[in-house]
Amino acid sequence: MVTPVIELSRIEKEYPGVKPLDRVDFAVRPGEIHALLGENGAGKSTLIRVMGGAIKPNGGSMTYLGKPVSWQSPKQARAAGIHVIHQELALFPELSVAENILVDAQPRNGLGLISSRARHARAAEILAQLGVRISTHAKIDELPLADQQMVEIAKALVGEVRLLVLDEPTAVISGHEVDLLFDNMRRLKREGVGIVYVSHRLEEIFEIADRVTILKDGQVAGTGPVGDLTRDEMITKMVGRRLEQIYPARRKAPAVGPDILKVSNLRSGHRVRDVSFAVRPGEVVGIAGMVGSGRTEVAEVIFGTRDLDGGTIEFDGKRLDRRMPREAIRNGVGFLTENRKDEGLFLGLPISANVMAPDLAGVTKRGLIDRRGERDIALEQIRNFAVAAPSPEVKVGNLSGGNQQKVLFGRWSRIARKLLILDEPTRGVDIGAKVEIYRIVRNLAEQGVGILMISSELPEIIGLSDRIFVMSQGHVAGEIDGASATEEAIMDLAVRSIDRREGKAARLEQVA
Ligand SMILES: Nc1ncnc2c1ncn2[C@@H]1O[C@H](COP(=O)(O)OP(=O)(O)OP(=O)(O)O)[C@@H](O)[C@H]1O
Ligand SMILES: [Mg+2]
Repeated sequence: MVTPVIELSRIEKEYPGVKPLDRVDFAVRPGEIHALLGENGAGKSTLIRVMGGAIKPNGGSMTYLGKPVSWQSPKQARAAGIHVIHQELALFPELSVAENILVDAQPRNGLGLISSRARHARAAEILAQLGVRISTHAKIDELPLADQQMVEIAKALVGEVRLLVLDEPTAVISGHEVDLLFDNMRRLKREGVGIVYVSHRLEEIFEIADRVTILKDGQVAGTGPVGDLTRDEMITKMVGRRLEQIYPARRKAPAVGPDILKVSNLRSGHRVRDVSFAVRPGEVVGIAGMVGSGRTEVAEVIFGTRDLDGGTIEFDGKRLDRRMPREAIRNGVGFLTENRKDEGLFLGLPISANVMAPDLAGVTKRGLIDRRGERDIALEQIRNFAVAAPSPEVKVGNLSGGNQQKVLFGRWSRIARKLLILDEPTRGVDIGAKVEIYRIVRNLAEQGVGILMISSELPEIIGLSDRIFVMSQGHVAGEIDGASATEEAIMDLAVRSIDRREGKAARLEQVA
């Protein structure tokens, strides 16, 4: 029997009113990729915080490399070879890529000073090892989210690592970047590193993991080799029931009537070069394409958070000249952005205040905030979205990542009376809640709201969209009918048009 890298035994953790960990046993062997599964709020991140020394358990014991340990700090765990990539990125936005990668291990020159050149050289070496091309001089907040995630992963490769813990790393990356990450995980695995891997994408578990442990309400609901469980069995253990149907039925007749949104020849910066499409009331329009194809930027231009350099936007039959988020909100446009951190969640405030945030007018009576009204609306949203929280008074900062996403969804779906723009709406959301969100998106569409949904998850785009526009390199490469779309057809458009337009070299550039 090999000594596990880490072994947790009957670990308990309690907060007022919640017990995220209830006598949890968990072990990771050297050279094993161990998937940790469970619904939003099941206790995955809490277990990870215990392993990485970020919190102390209330009970139970832990051994690391065969010896009993009780971490006093994350620093101590890191020095011992445990590297944790947390669910919410922990980078310094104002610092460079190199400074972030080497934040714990600044290389020094002969005089004992930190040498900038050495730092950049070492950072570049690690990024090359990862197989990504990111400038070490770039500032973090200038990078797309996917690159930020790669920087976070690069940090893990700086020192010696015996246990690597990844809490939903693929929530912000897709396609080629996921392949890169998996290649690197397999390499570390061959070197004998133990890896803990959290993801809500089950197909990834089957691709990469050796063993799986499923948490349900803070308890272990099952553990064993991945091959021993089918996808349906995993879902049943996580959710506690079988999920019959993931995507709601498609509408029978296509949406008719005047467009609620029409964009023509949109241009903005170098990411949006020529984009035209329209959304009708009651229609779900999907936007597919690779990371970097300009999808998010199009949404930002429409909502008014990015400059329009050319082209026109018509909303509800009127040309929009003054584009401002506040104006958009007043017109009944909601925009759930891809980056939860920048969404303006007030982590120290309760759920109720966060649901209402951009729309205080809706609950003000003669200038005073109607707290009762606010609480009622929040309660309704908690129920609608099955947010795992005992009451609307719970601080959003204490919610699990997926539940924070549900709060944001609740916020925007109230505002979007006419158009709801969604950018990666189910990022970090568990399978049960996904089904809830899909149902709500369909319901909103049935009530006449136009939905514009950007997603990198092709099954989601296909399962939900009435029409799909595929973007590539700032252009619309083609339109596909949702009912007959296939993943191949979408990928083909996303890539083929690049070949045609700029030759093979450009395509390789995009992929690299
Ligand atoms: N500091 C805290 N104070 C109070 N409750 C907390 C705290 N940290 C976590 N919790 C609660 O513990 C439970 C488990 O949270 P955890 O973040 O571990 O879930 P998770 O499995 O990682 O979910 P997700 O998939 O959404 O990331 C949740 O109900 C959460 O609200
Ligand atoms: Mg979590």
